[in-house]
Amino acid sequence: MRGGLCRPLRSVAMLLLLLLSPWVSPGASGAANPCCSFPCQHKGVCVQVGTEGYVCDCTRTGYFGPNCTFPEFWMRLRDALKPSPAFYHFLLTHFQWFWSIVNNTFVRDTLMRLVLTVRANMIPSPPTYNSAYGYISWEAYANVSYFTRVLPPVPDDCPTPMGTKGPAELPDVHLVAERFLLRRTFRPDPQGSNLMFAFFAQHFTHQFFKTSGKMGHGFTRALGHGVDLGNVYGDNLERQHELRLFRDGKLKFQVVDGEMYPPTVLEAPVHMIYPKHIPPEKQLAVGQEVFGLLPGLMMYATLWLREHNRVCDVLKGEHPTWGDEQLFQTARLILIGETIKIVIEDYVQHLSGYYLQLKFDPELLFGVQFQYRNRIAVEFNQLYHWHPLMPDSFLIQDEDYSYQQFVYNTTLLTDYGVEALVEAFSKQRAGQVGGGQNINPNLLKVAIGVIEESRLLRLQPFNEYRKRFGMRPYTSFRELTGDEEKAAELEELYGDIDALEFYPGLLVEKSQPNGIFGESMVEIGAPFSLKGLFGNPICSPEYWKPSTFGGATGFEMVNTATLQKLVCRNVKRCPYVAFRVPRDGEEAAAPASSGQGEKEPSAEL
Ligand SMILES: *[C@@H]1O[C@H](CO)[C@@H](O)[C@H](O)[C@H]1NC(C)=O
Ligand SMILES: *[C@@H]1O[C@H](CO)[C@@H](O)[C@H](O)[C@H]1NC(C)=O
Ligand SMILES: *[C@@H]1O[C@H](CO)[C@@H](O)[C@H](O)[C@H]1NC(C)=O
Ligand SMILES: *[C@@H]1O[C@H](CO)[C@@H](O)[C@H](O)[C@H]1NC(C)=O
Repeated sequence: MRGGLCRPLRSVAMLLLLLLSPWVSPGASGAANPCCSFPCQHKGVCVQVGTEGYVCDCTRTGYFGPNCTFPEFWMRLRDALKPSPAFYHFLLTHFQWFWSIVNNTFVRDTLMRLVLTVRANMIPSPPTYNSAYGYISWEAYANVSYFTRVLPPVPDDCPTPMGTKGPAELPDVHLVAERFLLRRTFRPDPQGSNLMFAFFAQHFTHQFFKTSGKMGHGFTRALGHGVDLGNVYGDNLERQHELRLFRDGKLKFQVVDGEMYPPTVLEAPVHMIYPKHIPPEKQLAVGQEVFGLLPGLMMYATLWLREHNRVCDVLKGEHPTWGDEQLFQTARLILIGETIKIVIEDYVQHLSGYYLQLKFDPELLFGVQFQYRNRIAVEFNQLYHWHPLMPDSFLIQDEDYSYQQFVYNTTLLTDYGVEALVEAFSKQRAGQVGGGQNINPNLLKVAIGVIEESRLLRLQPFNEYRKRFGMRPYTSFRELTGDEEKAAELEELYGDIDALEFYPGLLVEKSQPNGIFGESMVEIGAPFSLKGLFGNPICSPEYWKPSTFGGATGFEMVNTATLQKLVCRNVKRCPYVAFRVPRDGEEAAAPASSGQGEKEPSAEL
């Protein structure tokens, strides 16, 4: 909404509103804190006044009245004309012929800019609340050890944990997890996502989702709050220095069977989390301390390690006078750029299912208001627990590995090599995230932890988040799940749809037709994601130029990065690689001439 003409009119309306305010409304009968019922609509801010009253601050919401429910004229018009998110989603995932035309016109840029601004504007920037501060404060702004929050916590003095709705005590977490989240039989993602996708998601997000063990829930150790590749370089300078070779900008490595792998903790003494029985000479050292957990994570760590050292060689060739530090720092920026490019054009493109071809071009935002900053939110961390992606076992060549054989298996990566794992993970399907009951029993404890955390941090109800991100709140469990039986069970436990918790809501919501997620996961997740990617400093006008990346060659590497190149430039034999399983016939055709410009097999999405 950019009503340039309406500005003066709006200012007058605002002034009138200010004069009429405050509308101190009496609180709901008996409730200590009237803000507990979340009376303020349309992003209005609830402030308790006196002992039982409250005021909704409706400033710049486009609405007025005691609860910010009356639209100003142009808002009324917009509300009347604005189609639902479901409608946009339908358009973007149908009519391929139409989108293939759009793809080659300026309309693609216009739409991409629109998607970016509409989504990113959902995220407050500078950040507002955190788990300790449900009101704007300097401490919440300045102390970056906190994850931020889009909605403030449910006040402490409310009649129920969810405010005023639902039971006085929330249902047992184990019961919720076992009934609604536990997998009965594996349900594959209809969009064809594979384990290559699942491990990428995990590897990528663990640079900014690092809940602090020491400081507790609501705090993070990843102070970069975004794509800083702390998962490759460590989240602090000391760790980075242990991982660096201090020669030609490179990272330390070891060679096994003629191939480059991360060093052991003997060679790079950093803290890594491994079970006690694994000796130090078997423990690999990388930026993120938890990546020893899964060979899929260590595989990506190896790919990025090789890419970093490869980029250093290229840079050194162009800049023989540069020292180690400048080569290292410039390579890091190139890898950050490559990551964002791959995330938008391969990963998000696949995830969205859109026919609109997404574009990573920071210049799209140079003409509009946009803040180049980001703060990771608790809600983003909560919603990104996509454990339903994980299969029941891991199929590599002809071997089926159970969780017990796969987890913390330090030899699997070097036994098979990167190529074989990429190929295996690219061909094995991942599970559908939405729709409920699709988490493997080995991982259910993670989901339980997520729900426990959300209770500890007093996250607002699912429906409040629906409203905050521009969706209509659900009116019944039936509408949420599309399933009579599940709806009845949920109703029995939660009593009221307005008391449903955030994470269970996201996972039990009915999936979009042939989609990996339900609507809310997309509508709430996409704004956080796009804001985090485009809010990176490398996307700002001051940074986004060839010299930042060591010149035209480095800039070109960023602008042409793909998942396929990341793999194929760093292995001897280029395998099938994509974020989804091959379509019928695709794989057979791929290694030969695929009709594409490049010799490498197709990773088109
Ligand atoms: C505002 O919300 C309160 C609490 O939900 C309600 O009692 C009151 O009737 C509402 N007022 C208006 C004008 O909608
Ligand atoms: C969009 O256009 C680009 C280049 O013009 C082309 O490589 C790509 O295959 C097109 N994609 C679709 C979905 O039409
Ligand atoms: C951030 O807040 C926490 C909790 O109050 C405190 O322990 C920590 O020292 C603060 N960090 C900074 C940098 O002030
Ligand atoms: C680890 O993987 C290897 C194959 O690379 C397998 O032979 C071995 O049994 C696995 N280890 C465990 C503890 O299952």
